[in-house]
Amino acid sequence: MTEKTNTNAKPWEHAKAGSGSAHDPLAARFVESISYDTRLYRQDITGSLAHAAMLESVGLITKKDLAQIKRGLKAIQKEIDVQQNDWPGWKVELEDVHMCIEAALIEKVGDAGRKLHTGRSRNDQVALDLKLWIGDAQKKLDEQFQTLFKNMVALAKRDGFTVMPAYTHLQRAQPIVAGGEIMAWLAALDRCQQRFAALQAVNAHNPLGSGAIAGSGLPLNRKQTAAALPVGPPTTNSIDSTSTRDAALDMVYALAMTSQTLSRWAEQWIIYLSEEFGFISIGHAYTTGSSMMPQKRNPDMLELIRGRCGNVYGNLVGLLTMTKGIPLGYNRDLQEDKRHLFAAYDVVIDCLEMAGRIVKSAAFKADHIEQSLHRGFLDATALADYLVTQNVPFRTAHQIVGRLVLACETRKLDQLSELNVDDFNAVCKELGQKANTCSKDVYQWLGAANVVKRYRSAGNAGVSGFKAQLRVWEQRLRPTKK
Ligand code: ARG
Repeated sequence: MTEKTNTNAKPWEHAKAGSGSAHDPLAARFVESISYDTRLYRQDITGSLAHAAMLESVGLITKKDLAQIKRGLKAIQKEIDVQQNDWPGWKVELEDVHMCIEAALIEKVGDAGRKLHTGRSRNDQVALDLKLWIGDAQKKLDEQFQTLFKNMVALAKRDGFTVMPAYTHLQRAQPIVAGGEIMAWLAALDRCQQRFAALQAVNAHNPLGSGAIAGSGLPLNRKQTAAALPVGPPTTNSIDSTSTRDAALDMVYALAMTSQTLSRWAEQWIIYLSEEFGFISIGHAYTTGSSMMPQKRNPDMLELIRGRCGNVYGNLVGLLTMTKGIPLGYNRDLQEDKRHLFAAYDVVIDCLEMAGRIVKSAAFKADHIEQSLHRGFLDATALADYLVTQNVPFRTAHQIVGRLVLACETRKLDQLSELNVDDFNAVCKELGQKANTCSKDVYQWLGAANVVKRYRSAGNAGVSGFKAQLRVWEQRLRPTKK
């Protein structure tokens, strides 16, 4: 194909006149990122304003240039705020958000606009935009975390003293209060939120001023631009700054962990919503019917929260894999980072909001839970603890209770409390303990309702542990007086 000068040529491709992706519509479509990076427009403009102010203060542009750039960029921001995807400045042949905004600026203010990119490359520009975007995204995530936390605490305050079974291996284990379990989800979600704060700290350096790869011979003042932007001090190495996507990776990992936690919670509640368990109810808005079975109320929202975790893991693995062989310097592979980052964020922010609403609509079905509390020997461990207080070594106590459970099963008794003191002592004697090891006191250790009042170790899932954890959460969520 003979190459002619192309009127669609990209403004930065003049040097190699006649060449470039504009010659083939497939190439233009292949290389563009405008279909998914426009959401960076505010961050892009924020970064450009800081860059322009610095260019003026080091004498690379005039005051008048700066005033025009500011006016132009602010007008563009307003236009996009209103028109969003319909903004006429979005032109696929300009490839990305950065070039579209710059081209629109030049159209608006002429030569001043042509000076904005002095000492800058899209490589440091996009690295900065991403970091700014991640910071903004974290704030939005924090709002959703906060709502979810509040709704969980409200549920805990209302229904938290409901005694219920806790499960290991999905087999009945020990009795707890519902609030103890809600506190478990809060502890896990708290870590999820902290992960976002931690990644901000690790990545708190500003890449702007790194240029394409090697920095600049112009007297850029990187400290000034860094101070004007909420990222941190300048990065220490221009090559690393333009070739790394660590901040995006950390973000997607934090999103994946949040998604995993929500997925686990969703699974737990899906189980609890089954007829077989019947431990909770949720608002009808969060269930759907069946097209065939008229009686159905399926927990689809919870199932989607559980399932969409898969998308986020996909994004994490995609991004990890995409970055694995990137040599130093910018490589176009890096453009794909945004697909994964944005997709993962979109899923997680939605799931957090949905989780908050489901929790707000939920109630524990105390009566129903109570009906089966006598099953599964939930108090067996408490009985072993009682024997320990009677000077029986724990291993022996474990054996004694094991035999007592077996005795109940053989005699078709549901509960250890249906045995009499002589039954307890007979087994104690069998295993070499005193024949008067147990007294009537033993019954105060039996029964789920008694057991949950006895837990005393820090962080326990019974009454005292729940109360202590709830206090901390209430304190934390109390609105701060301004
Ligand atoms: N849209 C590009 C990206 O997201 C901007 C950087 C392009 N840089 C370059 N040297 N071609 O990565």
